[in-house]
Amino acid sequence: MILLFIIIGITKSNAPGTLSCLTFLSEFLCEEPGYCIWDGTKCLDYTQNQDCYRINEIGACRDNGIYSSVGGSSLCEPLSKLENEYKNVCGITNIVDYNYVRYPIITTGFSTHSLSGLTVAQLKISAPQQNYIYQVLSVNIQIAKNPDLQLILDLYKTYEGELVKPYIHCPYQIEKALVQTLQNLRDDTTSLSSGDKQATMMKFWSIVDVYLKRLQIHKKNYQSYNYFLNFLQCSFSRLFMTLKGQGHTITISWSKYKKNGLIQLISYSPKMFGITTALSDVIYVNILGEDAMAYTDIENMKISYIQESGTLTNVVRKLKFITDKIQIPHQVMTYTINSAACDSTERECEFSFPSPLTNSTFTFYVEQ
Ligand SMILES: *[C@@H]1O[C@H](CO)[C@@H](O)[C@H](O)[C@H]1NC(C)=O
Repeated sequence: MILLFIIIGITKSNAPGTLSCLTFLSEFLCEEPGYCIWDGTKCLDYTQNQDCYRINEIGACRDNGIYSSVGGSSLCEPLSKLENEYKNVCGITNIVDYNYVRYPIITTGFSTHSLSGLTVAQLKISAPQQNYIYQVLSVNIQIAKNPDLQLILDLYKTYEGELVKPYIHCPYQIEKALVQTLQNLRDDTTSLSSGDKQATMMKFWSIVDVYLKRLQIHKKNYQSYNYFLNFLQCSFSRLFMTLKGQGHTITISWSKYKKNGLIQLISYSPKMFGITTALSDVIYVNILGEDAMAYTDIENMKISYIQESGTLTNVVRKLKFITDKIQIPHQVMTYTINSAACDSTERECEFSFPSPLTNSTFTFYVEQ
């Protein structure tokens, strides 16, 4: 009888995701099962449900797993739908939160060298040249620790003159670097100083500027969705652009302009920047005339926010504006734009900008 219990005990404890993390005694043993964190000296369970997205072993969230609601800490749920594209298997709820989508980490190559063996420093000092550009793009951003990540972003900036030329497979190449940078920063488990986070974000936004320059010569109408970082561009003559976020759609429309030009949008995850009360993504808007100069002479710009399902109460909501998109967490301005009372039948809120616009760039989100 005792033997039977021991056998049952062993079988049970061997099921993936059921052993307490404290039982793993080295960094390797700790990381291998895919549901624990090594704090430098010991192996620990996650204790915050914001960390559920980091788990790779779905057994840890299923019944009897250490984070499950049946027989565990009730921290995480297994996702009900799995996508090839991403790695997430557990969440706070059983739906993947776009703020926390994890793209698989490709471990080929190096974060300090190009694939042909040139160091990041060598690539940087050799006068940026066309035949090195693919060496630059081969440095692995995903596996870089933060100091190396910052050096890679500096390297990209050095190559700006090459990156904005039409011959390279941009904008995709720069876009990939931006998505990987944001994921790297979000998922860094070392305790980064706020100075390092901000320095990384400052470099991130300077590469965004390079990207937006490249996009201008790519094609007029463009969009690319990556869950927590999305890119859109269209010409003024389209009169509207639509951004799809999780469970909602934002439409930006306008009616008049004096010459043609481009509206560029970058939308990104609010939670990564400490905003937990947003209904929409954070949206950075950049408006340019045909001459690539900042442009504001656009009339009747409106934002329509539509929630896909559930209820949206018919109260007045606010557009909030970000003071400085480098800061983590983001700070908001006292300036806001109020909606008319939202329409609870259509689940829609509408906001009107000053007409004509007063700013050619601004960053906002829709507040709950
Ligand atoms: C518009 O630009 C002015 C001047 O640069 C700035 O002070 C203000 O905060 C900007 N407004 C928004 C909503 O970004």
